[in-house]
Amino acid sequence: MQETSHLANRVVSLPETIAPGQWPTALAPMQDVTSLAYMRVVARRGSPDYYFTEYFRVHGTSRLDPKILRSIEETPDGRPVFAQLIGENLTDLRRTVRELREYPIAGIDLNMGCPAPRVYKKNVGGGLLRNPKVVDRILGTLREGIPTLFTVKMRIGFEDDRHFDTLLELVSKHEVDLLSLHVRTVQGGYRSEPSYPHARHAVQRLSCPVLLNGNITSAAVARKEVTGSGAHGAMIGRAAIRNPWIFRQIRQIQANEKVFCPKLEDVYLYVNELYEEFSDSRVPEAKQVARMKKFLNFVGLGVDSRGDFLHQMRRSRTRDELFSICSEFMCEGGRGATPFHHQSPSSASRVSEPSFSLGNNSCSAEFESPSS
Ligand SMILES: Cc1cc2nc3c(=O)[nH]c(=O)nc-3n(C[C@H](O)[C@H](O)[C@H](O)COP(=O)(O)O)c2cc1C
Repeated sequence: MQETSHLANRVVSLPETIAPGQWPTALAPMQDVTSLAYMRVVARRGSPDYYFTEYFRVHGTSRLDPKILRSIEETPDGRPVFAQLIGENLTDLRRTVRELREYPIAGIDLNMGCPAPRVYKKNVGGGLLRNPKVVDRILGTLREGIPTLFTVKMRIGFEDDRHFDTLLELVSKHEVDLLSLHVRTVQGGYRSEPSYPHARHAVQRLSCPVLLNGNITSAAVARKEVTGSGAHGAMIGRAAIRNPWIFRQIRQIQANEKVFCPKLEDVYLYVNELYEEFSDSRVPEAKQVARMKKFLNFVGLGVDSRGDFLHQMRRSRTRDELFSICSEFMCEGGRGATPFHHQSPSSASRVSEPSFSLGNNSCSAEFESPSS
């Protein structure tokens, strides 16, 4: 896809996909998840076509977060990385864009979807969707400062879709190069039923590509919803935590090949790698175990649908305890060869079961634990 724009004759071209001719997948930005460590673990199981970073906060005294910069500079597989920003002050946004342009990014993405009250109350993230005039100024400023790809990630509205068409017009007006659409309102959080017809509507209204996002729980769902909406591709968040093979599986399903079905021994290796990649000698073991439990909350019911694994692993306190429980459920007694139920539950209520609560100023703040 290549076209020229009147904006300083900008040449717009989305990066090639891994499998030529296939539609692209993207790993959704997830704060405290999609760091370099996580990207490495996913890449070993089949990279997404595009990565989006956790968001860089943009305000008067903000500096580029070195941890997020690492995920740009050291991507494990050389796949394109889009750097996500969250903010609203035009001067600060301009400065941050200038700083980011020194780094090997494929483009810059604006967060217009974060539903955490502490975020949207400052009129950033999802809060912007209440005010199209402010969005107009921000998109104009960013477009002016970004000679490469300028992308937007947004929801269909704040409490409803009353501004949806206006927002799409602004996306067109400012020649956004790619829209990732999370097909829920901000107030719908992560649990409301995703509205795929809104993706179809956006595809019809826009000339730029649209990535469909929201409860894409398996390769089969990705194919169905991307085809049904006419979207350019799929952006996947939580299902990739449960099933890091999903990007490879989507390539296989597009090629009409047999789709890889992970076994519990594969999950055991995944969990081990997560622990190793995220481990940090400066962080107390209890904290590292607590972080692993957040990941395992997504994986747990696929290991044991009765919930015994979830129950036991949540009671572990040390690394040894945690891995002894993992080994019992995923390896011992011949369990390693058992298929892992990698397809997340498809209903909106089930998919939000897993917990990744990171504090109430986080995009994922409203996640609740399955047992809570
Ligand atoms: C733990 C977590 C952190 C998230 N952090 C961000 C973020 O930093 N920026 C963003 O635009 N969206 C963020 N999101 C939203 C996801 O990118 C995605 O839009 C949402 O999870 C819906 O997609 P899914 O159903 O495939 O998970 C986050 C979601 C989760 C679960």
